[in-house]
Amino acid sequence: MTATKKAVKKNKAAFDKYALYSQAVQSPDEDVKFYRKIYKQIRKGKTPYVLREDFCAGGAISCEWVKLDKKNKSCGLDLDSEPMNYGREHYVSKLSADQKKRIALIKKDVLTKNLPSADIAVAVNFSYFFFKKREILKRYFENVYKSLNSNGLFVLDIFGGTQCTDAIEDRTKHKNFTYYWDQKSFDPLTNEAYFEIHFRYKGVKHEGVFSYDWRMWSIQEIRELMEEVGFQSTKVYWEGTDKNGNGNAKFTAVEKGEACLSWIAYVAGIK
Ligand SMILES: C[S@@+](CC[C@H](N)C(=O)[O-])C[C@H]1O[C@@H](n2cnc3c(N)ncnc32)[C@H](O)[C@@H]1O
Repeated sequence: MTATKKAVKKNKAAFDKYALYSQAVQSPDEDVKFYRKIYKQIRKGKTPYVLREDFCAGGAISCEWVKLDKKNKSCGLDLDSEPMNYGREHYVSKLSADQKKRIALIKKDVLTKNLPSADIAVAVNFSYFFFKKREILKRYFENVYKSLNSNGLFVLDIFGGTQCTDAIEDRTKHKNFTYYWDQKSFDPLTNEAYFEIHFRYKGVKHEGVFSYDWRMWSIQEIRELMEEVGFQSTKVYWEGTDKNGNGNAKFTAVEKGEACLSWIAYVAGIK
């Protein structure tokens, strides 16, 4: 094997799409603190102990939840064994023996009935955007509602803004790689959008490492649907901005949004 071939092989072996994804778009240690904080605010100091992570992929949030408190239990659901096995190998394996007893990653479609019960159910990184039809999203929300304990909270994230209707590629440089969020298309008739994630790593651009064929739901549609399936009320948490006008990852409850190029928010359904 030539030196070049050897180098290419080494680079390929080192490319870990889940590790780069996690560095680029996840902060599960902060996320779990946010879920607990808003639950306590809404439930007047009551503490949540059981969290379910729908569309969990590697289960990073489920892992952080069991680390947060020794009474905490979590369960992650996903259709696909590949990311779950990655999570078992790279995240769950690093937990203590006691933490491992309090977490389960289960292969399950969130559209099937009898989802595991929880105080908090989360659906993040916009995964429910896979559901393009209202009746399908409604079926998922009904499942979540039924599965939540009394006093339960459903938390999901959502993004939008005028930039989401443009075909643009957004690039973020990280220490050892570049992350690309590529909006390939948007159809204003259906609000369907197609996105891809690419990574440049060790001089090689890996195209279409993850792809998302989504419907862009609006906050108002989500709130109406949550209330339609029985949630008593909903709350919206809007991201603040830093001094350069970029998102600062700090979310506060709001009654009114702000028209901007690109925004991220959480919607909480209160049972
Ligand atoms: C965007 S990824 C994972 C997002 C992850 N929650 C995060 O925070 O980064 C979406 C995941 O949803 C899973 N998924 C898609 N449809 C599903 C369904 N109906 N039930 C359960 N998991 C599903 C996919 O297998 C994939 O792992």
